[in-house]
Amino acid sequence: APVSSPDLDLCEKATVASKSAGTMKVACCPPKSAKIIDFKPPKFSKIRYRPAAQSVDPEYLDKFTKAMELMKALPMDDPRSFMQQANVHCAYCNGAYDNGDPSHELQVHFSWLFFPFHRLYLYFYERILGNLIGDPNFAMPFWNWDAPRGMPIPEIYVDPNSPLYDEKRNVDHQPPKLADLDYSVEEDLSKRDQIKSNLSVMYRQMVTNKTATLFLGKPYRAGEKSSPGAGSIEQSPHTDIHKWVGDQRETYKEDMGNFYSAGRDPLFYAHHCNVDRMWNIWKSLPGKKRRDFTDTDWLDSSFLFYDENANLVRAKVRDALDTKTLGYDYQKVNIPWLKNKP
Ligand code: C2O
Repeated sequence: APVSSPDLDLCEKATVASKSAGTMKVACCPPKSAKIIDFKPPKFSKIRYRPAAQSVDPEYLDKFTKAMELMKALPMDDPRSFMQQANVHCAYCNGAYDNGDPSHELQVHFSWLFFPFHRLYLYFYERILGNLIGDPNFAMPFWNWDAPRGMPIPEIYVDPNSPLYDEKRNVDHQPPKLADLDYSVEEDLSKRDQIKSNLSVMYRQMVTNKTATLFLGKPYRAGEKSSPGAGSIEQSPHTDIHKWVGDQRETYKEDMGNFYSAGRDPLFYAHHCNVDRMWNIWKSLPGKKRRDFTDTDWLDSSFLFYDENANLVRAKVRDALDTKTLGYDYQKVNIPWLKNKP
């Protein structure tokens, strides 16, 4: 059966664990709501294009900063507030819910739920930001880490006076340092070698991993034990970039280095926009195997999110398959790894 959306009344404290520091409990359950609305695709007059973060203009940056400022200014108990939105990730990823069986936690990583869950999460986040600045066409930027010019943390996120800034990041990984797309230990490659390595990671994860299971992740159904297996992109660069950004001085590698806190770094959303963009690109590559699953246990799995009007909405994986029905797409930029067969 499909994974069903969690019962918010049964939400419990989340668990954060580290080998060295042990376990900590975190309260990150969302506010409750008497009513749940089923998701309906939005009406819109034109597609919103999410821009590459390294090349946005000052006018766009003003709007985006304003929107983030307003989100951060919402009262803590507003489900659209910055902290509540970050907590969405904590609750779905650190065991605050169960998967229809109290002995198995609900986990949206390491399985076929990874791409659709995050797509919907970003969708509602973007709608909230747009609503706060009265611009329904507002689109979030993506961190273009798959192209050389986009590989450092985008400059707009590193100004300490900006609401896009987060101080809990690795101090040694500030721009112009290039992200390491399969980061595990510090390597200190030359710029050239890092680019070469990153492009071949991208080629391998995007082009070599052809089937839905290899790319999107392994099946995960109601009542089952979590984390059957991540898809290629989720593993690297997705998780490796989280670790690369997370602050080594922090106990649980906050913010980006732990699920419970990752959404507290505005960079998280730009990172995930690029992950989401990869799903679109993967489906557009030639070959019959690059298709989404057709299994209804996947298509009918559902999640709950608060929308821009603070209504609780139930959305299904099938609602997330095509970004055009959600009203957005990505600015077309050069894709250097496509021609980079290692
Ligand atoms: Cu839900 Cu990038 O993690």
